[in-house]
Amino acid sequence: MLKDKNIILGVCGSIAAYKSATLVRLLVKAGANVKVILTAGGANFITPLTLATLSKHPVYTQYFEEETGVWSNHVELGLWADYMLVAPTSANTLAKMATGLCDNLLTAVYLSAKCPVLFAPAMDLDMWKHESTQANIEKLLSYGNLLIAPGKGELASGLYGEGRMAEPEDIVLFLLETISKGLPLSGKKVLVTAGPTYEAIDPVRFIGNHSSGKMGFAIAERFARLGAEVTLVTGPTAEKSSLQLNRIDVVSAAQMLAACEKEFRKAEIMVMSAAVADYTPVTTASQKIKKSSSEFNLELKKTEDILATLGKLKTENQILVGFALETENEEEHAKDKLIRKNLDLIILNSLNDKGAGFKMDTNKITIFNKAFEKTVFEMKSKTEVAKDICDEILKLV
Ligand code: CTP
Repeated sequence: MLKDKNIILGVCGSIAAYKSATLVRLLVKAGANVKVILTAGGANFITPLTLATLSKHPVYTQYFEEETGVWSNHVELGLWADYMLVAPTSANTLAKMATGLCDNLLTAVYLSAKCPVLFAPAMDLDMWKHESTQANIEKLLSYGNLLIAPGKGELASGLYGEGRMAEPEDIVLFLLETISKGLPLSGKKVLVTAGPTYEAIDPVRFIGNHSSGKMGFAIAERFARLGAEVTLVTGPTAEKSSLQLNRIDVVSAAQMLAACEKEFRKAEIMVMSAAVADYTPVTTASQKIKKSSSEFNLELKKTEDILATLGKLKTENQILVGFALETENEEEHAKDKLIRKNLDLIILNSLNDKGAGFKMDTNKITIFNKAFEKTVFEMKSKTEVAKDICDEILKLV
């Protein structure tokens, strides 16, 4: 199961760092590619040479290696990893990870990592029991990181109790279990729409809107991080994702509908966050329209509502989630759409909230379920909003 898995092993300043040598050996023996990041504190307990020899890769100790002049790109390292393991995690690194402090390569890679992160604390009994350490652990767990709990035993200080890093064999077992258990949405298929649609008037002009696609991409990425297989049908956007998404690019509402009709049967969860044009030109001119008369009337027809179409087709095993972007009587309109389109959840954005809406990096949402129970969220980054949305959907899965 570990064969060809890319693993970053962070080693911090703790006497337990001597066990990292065995850990690297076990991981490499199981077929994993291991790259070690050693903090300055860690280097007091184990040499880079030992870890480099065992991992068969140079050991990373700082952003910039003075001798070689090589810059260690934390973002690249973070993206390379399938799993990040911090073992031992010292109380100091634990606190940095919990607060987003990033004063060394290890914490920078942690912040850049897009993979599951497992941490195995090692510290003295009283440090372990301290309220701030426990609060930091709670924080890390709330971010989705996985704790490999320390065991009881004799500690380097001579004290007896909790704080001893888990044994390398147990850490490998924990990692194997994590891989096999997978993530909450492993094996689930999700369909997400994002971005605007462009309705062609002639070969050079179109009717569009200001949707950036940021919200839909953030939702698709969050689902992918939860282990789902995500199909993202997106209108024209500058957004990109480094995650593995089955991306289908479309331009018009009709193309988005066709793609969704083709994909929706496979999906167990569908989130329609695209800002689909409600109207499209009755005809599209094949040549550029010349400005001849002083007035110009464009005849439009309604597009098909993709969300409502899927609402009619969906089965009991499918969850359908829509958005409502409103400027007045927000809650009434949202509830009306929830019923009319046969949705399980509706996410209301109000353009009256500063910081919400198109092109922004933040959003403020209210979610209604079928029983009209509402959950109001604060203004947050779209990445955090995506997490809130996925958490609400997870409750229905
Ligand atoms: N939607 C859709 N297809 C359309 C129009 C809208 O799938 N042709 C979806 C959007 O992706 C969103 C939801 O419907 O999830 C609500 O979109 P919104 O523009 O707020 O509402 P409309 O249904 O278009 O109603 P109105 O414009 O009257 O507010």
